[in-house]
Amino acid sequence: MPTKVLMVCLGNICRSPLAEGLLKSKVDANNIYVDSAGTAGYHVGSLPDSRSIEIARKHNIDITDQRSRKFKVDDFKYFDYIYAMDLSNFNDILSLAPNESDGKKVKLLLQEINRNINEVPDPYYGGEQGFAQVFELIDQGCEIIVESLIKQEKSGNES
Ligand code: 4NP
Repeated sequence: MPTKVLMVCLGNICRSPLAEGLLKSKVDANNIYVDSAGTAGYHVGSLPDSRSIEIARKHNIDITDQRSRKFKVDDFKYFDYIYAMDLSNFNDILSLAPNESDGKKVKLLLQEINRNINEVPDPYYGGEQGFAQVFELIDQGCEIIVESLIKQEKSGNES
């Protein structure tokens, strides 16, 4: 069974589609299943924002197969890890957790990065530079997730 990871932001058109695309680009799809969702339903069914599509394309990642969907409580049943882009998304998801063990699945994407910044800022109302910064932050967050997933796989194989 693959480990299942869900990336969550507000609209599921800017940050979490990049997080989904980036993590998918770093892992074997047979081992890790990745999806994304938004806490709000404003853009359900939409393609990622054109600025996210463009910054991903510059890094040879195609996210145009993605469509926005809203986070649902059943996601707690299916996913092993749920990564929020910012504290507002984190609190919104946590408030929907059916129980304590589901609540423990919710993490901030950048929480393991040893820096002052632990949120991926919302780039929606800014310019393209914001998307480049967001891409770099999400890339760093995904690198750390990959390291921890590999460690877990190893410890799982040993036990
Ligand atoms: P995202 O960005 O949460 O990274 O997808 C946003 C997208 C849309 C809106 C806000 C943030 N909006 O207000 O429509």
